[in-house]
Amino acid sequence: MKKFEEQLIKEVEALKSLQPGERKGNVGWESPSNIAFVKYWGKYPRQIPANASLSLTLSKAVTRTRAAYNYDPKREKPVVQFEFEGQRKGDFTARIEKYLSGLDEFMPWIRHTDFSISSENTFPHSSGIASSASAMSAMALCLCDIEQEIYRQEYPGDFFRRASFLARLGSGSASRSLYGKMAEWGITASCKDSSDEFAIPVPEIHDAFMDMKDSILIIESGKKRVSSSLGHDLMRSNPYSKLRFEAAEENMQQLCNVMQNGDLGGFIDIMENEALSLHAMMMTSSPGYVLMQPNSLEAIHRIREFRSRTGLAIGFTLDAGANVHVIYPGEQAESIRKFIDQELKELCEHGAIIHDEMGSGPKRI
Ligand code: DP6
Repeated sequence: MKKFEEQLIKEVEALKSLQPGERKGNVGWESPSNIAFVKYWGKYPRQIPANASLSLTLSKAVTRTRAAYNYDPKREKPVVQFEFEGQRKGDFTARIEKYLSGLDEFMPWIRHTDFSISSENTFPHSSGIASSASAMSAMALCLCDIEQEIYRQEYPGDFFRRASFLARLGSGSASRSLYGKMAEWGITASCKDSSDEFAIPVPEIHDAFMDMKDSILIIESGKKRVSSSLGHDLMRSNPYSKLRFEAAEENMQQLCNVMQNGDLGGFIDIMENEALSLHAMMMTSSPGYVLMQPNSLEAIHRIREFRSRTGLAIGFTLDAGANVHVIYPGEQAESIRKFIDQELKELCEHGAIIHDEMGSGPKRI
C-alpha cells in the first residue's frame, strides 16, 4: 500500500472515536478544469500514473457542485440523486455512485449518507474541456467539507492534498485541479515532493509564466470519440509506451527548468512535443485513432508560421481530441488575440473560441 493512503486509513480509525455532529447540511465548491503541458497518458491499477504530468489551472472553465447530505449511522443503503444543469442524468449518477462506493475505506460515513447533488459547468459539455477534472475535484472537495461538518472537526492535515488524493480516484487529471496556477502529479526526479498519490502546486514559476492565456479553438464539438479510459488502456499494448513514459519524464525535467528560468521558447518546444506525442500514441495504438481534424492541423501550421514570422511566444497543445489550445503569455495577448481572430477563428466550428487563462484554484460557494 502507498504511504499517503496508509496515513489516511489510520486517520479513519481516529474518526471512529468522535461523536458525529451535524447530520444534515449543504456544502458547495467551484473547481476548475486544467490543461496539461506534460500529459498523463497511461496508468496502472488504482489510478497510479505511468508518468508525471504538469498542468495549467484554468480560470473560467469551472464546475460548480452543491451537495445536500443526510447522514444516519443506521442507514445502510444510501440514495444518491444527481442533477446536471437542472436535469437528472442516469449515467452521471451511476458514475458518482461507483465513485462514492470506492471511497469506503477513506470515508466510511459515506455508506450511511444520502446525497442530493447538483452540478453545472461554465463551459459547454461538447467543448472538449476536461469536465471530469473540474467535476471530480469539486465532488471530492464537497465530500471533505461534509466530513468536517459531520464530525465537527477541521481536517488535521493538508485539506487540499487529501482532496487531490480523493479526486485522483475519480479521474487522474482531477488530482491537479485542486491548486491555483500550475500543478504537478506523479513521481518525477524534477520535483522532490512529487507523489503518484496526489498532486502538488508547482513550487517555482518564473514571472514569464504567471499570466498564461489559453484560447481554446473549438474545431469539433460533440462527444469525445475516444474516452480517456480507453486511451489509457491502449497504452498497455502500445509498442512505444515504454519510450513514451521515459520521454515524458525527460520533458518533465526540462519543463521544470524552463519554468524556473523563464525560457518561453523552450517551454513551447516541450509543450508542443507533448501534444504531438500524445496523438502519436493514439495513432500507433491498436486500433489506431486519428483524433485531429484537417482544421486542427491547419491551426497548428498557422500558429507555427505566425510564431516564426513575429517571434511571439505562441504555442499549442491538444488533449485527446481535435480542439486546439493556443497558449501564450498575457503580455503578448493583444497581438496574439488579433491573429487568433483574423486567422484561426475561421477554422473553428461556428467560429467558436473559449478564451481562458491561468486561474487561482477552487473556491467554496
Ligand atoms: C489527455 O484524467 O480524463 O487529458 O484518470 O481515466 O479519468 P482518467 O483519465 P483523465 O485523462 C486525461 C488525459 C489527458 C491528459 C492530461 O490531462 O494529463
